[in-house]
Amino acid sequence: MSGVSLQGIVKAYGAVQVVHGIDLEVQEKEFVVLVGPSGCGKSTTLRMIAGLEEISDGDLSIDGRHVNRVAPKDRDVAMVFQNYALYPHLNVADNIAFGLRIRKESKEKIASSVDEVGKILGLTPYLERRPADLSGGQRQRVAMGRAIVRRPKVFLFDEPLSNLDAKLRTQMRAEIKRLHKRLGATSIYVTHDQVEAMTLADRIVVMHDGRIEQIGTPMELFLNPANTFVAGFLGSPPMNMVKARIVASETGPVAEFGGNRLQLAQIPSLQSAVGREVILGIRPEFVTVAEETTPGRLPVEVDLIETLGSEALIHATLMGEPFVIRTGTVGQMNVLDGISGFTIEPHLVRVFDAETGQALAGQVLEQ
Ligand SMILES: Nc1ncnc2c1ncn2[C@@H]1O[C@H](COP(=O)(O)OP(=O)(O)O)[C@@H](O)[C@H]1O
Ligand SMILES: [Mg+2]
Repeated sequence: MSGVSLQGIVKAYGAVQVVHGIDLEVQEKEFVVLVGPSGCGKSTTLRMIAGLEEISDGDLSIDGRHVNRVAPKDRDVAMVFQNYALYPHLNVADNIAFGLRIRKESKEKIASSVDEVGKILGLTPYLERRPADLSGGQRQRVAMGRAIVRRPKVFLFDEPLSNLDAKLRTQMRAEIKRLHKRLGATSIYVTHDQVEAMTLADRIVVMHDGRIEQIGTPMELFLNPANTFVAGFLGSPPMNMVKARIVASETGPVAEFGGNRLQLAQIPSLQSAVGREVILGIRPEFVTVAEETTPGRLPVEVDLIETLGSEALIHATLMGEPFVIRTGTVGQMNVLDGISGFTIEPHLVRVFDAETGQALAGQVLEQ
C-alpha cells in the first residue's frame, strides 16, 4: 500500500514557522494536488516528503513506513522540478538512465528501461540529443522519464509545467494525466494554478499561509467551498462575494443588501441565522440573465461584455461592487446587449459568516 501519510507536519526555519501542522492521507494510486498562492508552503511540504528538507515536527510515513529520518534516496520517491534539473552534458538516454546506473543495474536492464520510457513519452527520436537541443516540453518529458524509469512508489511534482507556454502547458497537462492513468502511481503535485489543480487532481488540497483550508475532489471544492478563501481561489472567474444580512420572511430566510432581497434555501442553519451579517457567494456560471420584469431579479450595471465564442463574460457592478456573470452566447447576443439583471436559485447561493469567512452548515450542493 504505497500511500503517504502526513500527521501534524511542521516546518520552522529558525524561529519562523512556515508550515503549521499538516494532516493529509494520500491513498495508494491517488493523484493529489497541493494548490495555493505563492509562499503558502507547498514546495516546503513537498520537499519534506522527498526528504530534501528536514521535518521540524510531526510524522511522515510512506507505504506504512515511518520515514522522518530516512535519506531521500531510500524513500523510494522521485521528484520532477519546474526547472527540469537535467544534466546538460549527458544526452537524453543517459539522463534517463542516470538513476539506474547509480543503482548499478545491468546494461541490458538499463537499455530496455530507457527504450520503454522513451516510447511511453515519445522521446525515442531524441535519445541521442543533449538537453540544449530540445524544446521546453521535450526537456520536461525527459525529466519525467528520469522519474518514471526508477519505478518509485511515489511521484512528487513541483510546478513542472510553469516554465512552458500556455499551449504546451495544456498539452503536457493532458499527458501527465494519461501517464498517471497508465502507471497508476501515487502522485503528489504542487501548483499555484487552480486550473491545473481542477483538471489533474483526484483530490485537491487548498493551502494558505502554511495551513490546509480544505481537502476534497475538484467538484466538491467547486460546489461546496468551506470558506471564502477557497471560494475565491477555485473557479475562473472566481465566485462573486456580496455582503448582506439575513432577515426573516414569509418564504423563509432572505438575504438583504442595499434594498435588494435574495431568497435563500430553507435549511436550519440559514433559518437560525436571521440577523447575522454574511457574505453571499455567487458563482458567475450559476446565475440566469433576467429581464426587467422577472420577479426576484437583482439589478446590475454592465461595464463590459467579453465574448469568448460559445460563452460570454459579463463584467458588471452590483451595488457598486464588481460582479461577473458567465453565460452562453448561442442565440443570446441580442439579449446580452440589453442585460440589466439576473436571478439565481436559492440553493445555488453559498452563504458564509462575514466575520469568520466559514460557510454556514448544511449547504450541500451535489453534482
Ligand atoms: N530556506 C528558507 N529559509 C527561510 N524561509 C524559507 C525558506 N524556504 C522557504 N521559506 C519561506 O517559507 C514559506 C513557504 O515557501 P514555499 O514552500 O516555497 O511556498 P510555495 O511553494 O507555496 O510558493 C515562504 O514564506 C518562504 O519565504
Ligand atoms: Mg513553490
